[in-house]
Amino acid sequence: MTVTVDRPVHDAPSGGKVPLVEMKNVGKSYGNITALKDISLRVHAGEVTGILGDNGAGKSTLIKIISGLHQQTDGELLVDGEPTKFNSPKEALGKGIRQSRFPWGLDSNAMRATTLTELSKMGIDLPDVDVPIGSLSGGQKQCVAIARAVFFGARVLILDEPTAALGVKQSGVVLKYITAAKEAGFGVVFITHNPHHAHMVGDHFVLLNRGKQKLDCTYDEIDLEHLTQQMAGGDELEALSHELRGGKRT
Ligand SMILES: Nc1ncnc2c1ncn2[C@@H]1O[C@H](COP(=O)(O)OP(=O)(O)OP(=O)(O)O)[C@@H](O)[C@H]1O
Ligand SMILES: [Mg+2]
Repeated sequence: MTVTVDRPVHDAPSGGKVPLVEMKNVGKSYGNITALKDISLRVHAGEVTGILGDNGAGKSTLIKIISGLHQQTDGELLVDGEPTKFNSPKEALGKGIRQSRFPWGLDSNAMRATTLTELSKMGIDLPDVDVPIGSLSGGQKQCVAIARAVFFGARVLILDEPTAALGVKQSGVVLKYITAAKEAGFGVVFITHNPHHAHMVGDHFVLLNRGKQKLDCTYDEIDLEHLTQQMAGGDELEALSHELRGGKRT
């Protein structure tokens, strides 16, 4: 079965609030490669927006635009409802849009102390933030990276595949942190290949496929099974399964 949410994405429920970040019909081309086409989405405070899609779907390109690394070639980017063009990541940082990723360090004592406080407020205990970064687990690293973004005054937290290299337990810790950040009022953009992870913490899902927006719906509109099926390619996967079973196993 295929789920379609037959509502123009521009009409996705916003609850009357001004989104922290909004994209209206955004497109991005690199020369003659179209990385994104006609993307419209909203990132709200206190919500997790899950961005899903296969390799090359355009996920990283999308967050490069939001975080000021690249500019869109079509459409509009709005921050706090204002049309905005970032000329650099620094300008995005100035608006509280921060990508949480490596490399990072806990540069000063004040930052270490605040990071510990932020971490414990969010229910995460690190044995010691002074330990060499290399000896932290992958999950702990991701958590410190998030705390660091919070320290620097993020309002929008962008996480590009933070659980990709992690085991079940460590992923769980990062997912808890994502939920804590959302509950603290941040607008979280969570990029992932993993529909289970997205469904556990997401309020709103956008699925990209070869640069196009395939799905835009809220948590209430899609269950895990359908999100997984959409992510897996839906009908394409079923056809592949038939082909493999039918062709090779008789
Ligand atoms: N700087 C660039 N120059 C040319 N093409 C690019 C550039 N960046 C991305 N692309 C192309 O745009 C498309 C989308 O790439 P993008 O990195 O956004 O995908 P992704 O969803 O993040 O993939 P992955 O899951 O592998 O990280 C791909 O076809 C890619 O080759
Ligand atoms: Mg990517």
